Amino acid sequence: MTRLPNDFLWGGAVAAHQLEGGWNKGYKGVSIVDVMTAGTKGVPRKITDGVLEGEYYPNHEAIDFYSRYKEDIALFAEMGFTCFRTSIAWTRIFPNGDELEPNEEGLQFYDDLFDELLHHGIEPVVTLSHFEMPYHLAKEYGGFANRKVVDFFVRYAIAVMNRYKDKVKYWMTFNEINNQTNTSADIFGWTCSGVRYSEHENPMETMYQVAHHELVASALVVKEGKIINPTFEIGCMIAFVPFYPYSCNPDDVMIATESMHERFFFPDVHVRGYYPSYIRKEWERKGYKINMEPEDEAILKEGTVDFIGLSYYMSNAVKADAETDTSASTDGASKHSVPNPYVKASDWGWQIDPVGLRYTLVTLYERYQLPLFIVENGFGAIDEMREDGTIEDDYRIAYLGSHIEELKKAVVLDGVDLMGYTAWGCIDVISFTTGEMKKRYGFIYVDKHNDGTGSLMRSKKKSFHWYKNVIATNGEKV
Ligand code: BG6
Repeated sequence: MTRLPNDFLWGGAVAAHQLEGGWNKGYKGVSIVDVMTAGTKGVPRKITDGVLEGEYYPNHEAIDFYSRYKEDIALFAEMGFTCFRTSIAWTRIFPNGDELEPNEEGLQFYDDLFDELLHHGIEPVVTLSHFEMPYHLAKEYGGFANRKVVDFFVRYAIAVMNRYKDKVKYWMTFNEINNQTNTSADIFGWTCSGVRYSEHENPMETMYQVAHHELVASALVVKEGKIINPTFEIGCMIAFVPFYPYSCNPDDVMIATESMHERFFFPDVHVRGYYPSYIRKEWERKGYKINMEPEDEAILKEGTVDFIGLSYYMSNAVKADAETDTSASTDGASKHSVPNPYVKASDWGWQIDPVGLRYTLVTLYERYQLPLFIVENGFGAIDEMREDGTIEDDYRIAYLGSHIEELKKAVVLDGVDLMGYTAWGCIDVISFTTGEMKKRYGFIYVDKHNDGTGSLMRSKKKSFHWYKNVIATNGEKV
């Protein structure tokens, strides 16, 4: 094969909470993101105790996709998208999470949204949990630290998989489930699982307990999903920030190998259906007791995924004798991370490394031999609109183009089975880590600012036309 396959999926990716807005419309409940304020680089977002008067919550309105999705989907169609990745807001379907019956208005919203996509020939790719659990489950149950939440999640997943069984073929269970291995910044445990690890006596032990619950929940959903529709393709979703050894010093190489366990732990279980030896050894060494039910072993075995969804933004280098404070870091760093002298970084300190994408794809494919799907890759930058209304985002074109070149090599030269590519934040959305609007990823500019002002008008950036051509040529013209 010298080109990408003809059925390669091209599109964009978003998450419900980052663009929908309408946070309390259609009987939607309060989600864990609805209580997060805005921050900036180095200033973490606050997680408040409920929705407080006088605080600004950027996700409440976001970019109002809730009422404007038809207009936005028409723009995606104009770019030639063949797929669109979004998530379902759990709180639209089960506002508090522990109800017995789903909320019809929420279900209807996604029916209409998926119909609109299909009408334009765009295949929906759906994440069940993208940082969006009901706040009630976090507050009253302790999030996924509580086994009961597994049942609530499975109930929600069955409800939506049943409802959309003829509209959605591609599903993913938990977005970037591995973010929470960074237990020193509360944002990750909170958004992945509704848990603030800093409040727990042993954050890492709790993290593994939570992880176990989510891995079981994911496996149950894969099993149930296959009963609902055997042609479903159900994947996991991993944030893949590879760790390179800083040098060929064997100690650096070994620290990189150990650090990579953090990246492999979740997909090892999702794909193979059992815990890897290095984790069992770590639990033993540290005296961690992870509660498991007798049936869990079989559940994990029977609910392995069909594909691996991944996000790739950057790489990281590690040095055995480095000690880094990662408590405010949002760049996938470990305590051994050091700047890589061979790559540049974005304004938010994320190291730009297109070759790292090929490295990632080859590494994952050779380890698991499962189809891969790049469901996030993108460049967050400050865009300036000129007086004539144009936005010349050449830096974004350069970033995306160089990554697409590398993914092509992975397919054509290395034989990786790659299902598709969805550029993150194909329309400007609220940044997850900082809650800002000015960290933009889109091909479509949205007139909305950090302070919440703006007309919400949409405009095409230069990259809009560029991406349209990339898709039209199936990645040949980059
Ligand atoms: C991933 C998330 O971590 O990266 C997205 O799945 C997020 O939700 C994206 O938006 C980019 O991060 P940020 O912080 O720049 O928005």
